[in-house]
Amino acid sequence: MPTELNDLTSMTSGPTRRDFLARAMAIGGSGFLLASMKAWGMDIASTADAPPLLQGSGKGKTVVILGAGVAGMTAAYELSKLGYTCKVVEARGFAGGRCQTARNGKVLEELGGEKQVCHFEKGQYLNFGPWRIPFNHRSTLHYTKQFDIPLELFNNDNDASYVYSVNPKSPLAGRRMRQFEVKADMRGYVDELLAKSLKSGIMDQQVTAQDKTLLIDYLVNEGYLSNKDLRYRGTPGRGYKVNPGAGISPGPGVPSDPLGFSDLLQSKLGHIYHSVHEFEQQATMLQPIGGMDGIAKGFEKRVGKMIRYNTEVVSLRNFPDKVEVTVKDLASGAASVIKGDFCLCTIPLSVLRQVETNFSDKFKLALQGAAYAPVGKIGLQMKRRFWEEDDGIYGGHVLTDQKGINLISLPSTNWQGKKGTLLGYYNFEADAAEISALSNAERADFALAAGEKIFPGQYRSSFESAFSVAWHRVKYNLGGWAVWSEETRASAYPVLFEGEGRTLLAGEHMSYLGGWQAGAIESAWAQIGRIHRRLTA
Ligand code: ALA
Repeated sequence: MPTELNDLTSMTSGPTRRDFLARAMAIGGSGFLLASMKAWGMDIASTADAPPLLQGSGKGKTVVILGAGVAGMTAAYELSKLGYTCKVVEARGFAGGRCQTARNGKVLEELGGEKQVCHFEKGQYLNFGPWRIPFNHRSTLHYTKQFDIPLELFNNDNDASYVYSVNPKSPLAGRRMRQFEVKADMRGYVDELLAKSLKSGIMDQQVTAQDKTLLIDYLVNEGYLSNKDLRYRGTPGRGYKVNPGAGISPGPGVPSDPLGFSDLLQSKLGHIYHSVHEFEQQATMLQPIGGMDGIAKGFEKRVGKMIRYNTEVVSLRNFPDKVEVTVKDLASGAASVIKGDFCLCTIPLSVLRQVETNFSDKFKLALQGAAYAPVGKIGLQMKRRFWEEDDGIYGGHVLTDQKGINLISLPSTNWQGKKGTLLGYYNFEADAAEISALSNAERADFALAAGEKIFPGQYRSSFESAFSVAWHRVKYNLGGWAVWSEETRASAYPVLFEGEGRTLLAGEHMSYLGGWQAGAIESAWAQIGRIHRRLTA
């Protein structure tokens, strides 16, 4: 069954993470945030826009880093600058962890799935892991700047894009609408109601006479209401039936008619936006030109020599004075032991809990504390950028409650190019689990059927090639990101962040920026400070 359309609320943001710190940030600003993080043992020595300033030298000491994802490579990069010998163990044949981009030749084999080879044309790609960088993720932007990774804008919020509901309870079901239509009409009608109520005097207890005048003035302005009768009759901002042009015809154009207020309310389409986006979804958002894996490659260029690729972690042992990690070379099958003074483990908890360790029972229990999100994405290479050419949509997301789709995201790169690769779905939880059971060809067919409803005659006929991922079926990840409940955030998370013996953990799961590269980077920054202090004490 289609989900209620108010589920659309979360679509632009992916899963919402209105966690305590986000609220703290909103309420108390960054000072309050930092105080809260410190109180919770999130040892951020300085601010989160630069790595900690660490004095002294790590010469002669070895840190074994498990995982060459963004967290592991951040740690290797910063610790090696301090003189540490970093031995990075990576199961895959390449670095980056989830920071991957699918382009021609990319191979992905999901657990129990078929081998998928990307057949996108040269220049076409899909960021099937991280795909957008909020302007306030200064840690990620610290490295893009430092590594000279060119960025471009990522359009995360395009009012010209469509919203399309299939909810049978919605009077507007099956009708594609521009998001600006919905926004203009909802605001206009609500403002009209409030302005008229104020005018009638029924709210005189709540507002002073002076504020009443000012508020009506505000509502008239915000909602494009008539000054005369306070009515909302539409606005050019919601689009025209016939656009203005030159000469006599079309001349000033033909205004469009507002949607019905009751229809809008019943459709719940007004739930698709907030007056202000969540902190991590606000404009401006950015992306590396050419693919998000530019970040992975930026790190790899600097720390690649420290990485042992195709090497799986078999066991991890803490001793009072050292750590020992038994690894298996995947090519030869040979096992060997890597010794170090400390270990920073960035392996996702979903995978780490299967590794043999000598952690205490308490720590092992805490490792179970996070669930891992089923997440699916599909890239569809289109031979024609019909969304730009025919519909004038340049980036942003088409929002839909079609089951398993959530959103269709249009590329924020190579504007007006010949071809384009869009994100055909971005699904979570049960939907992601269900869709991921399909073969790759079936997933593409599923995505095309949904897109065809919104772009009839354009979508399927333009399709050329697909590449899909279901992160919960990807070996060495087993999920898109860690999901903490309020309870395990309080019970398990601090235990894990504290670490045990000579092992500390880092990764997006060790942050309140779950599912973001900034979480990986900032957790690594926090933990290298602690490692350094322990080893130089
Ligand atoms: N960070 C993830 C996203 O951008 C959740 O969708």
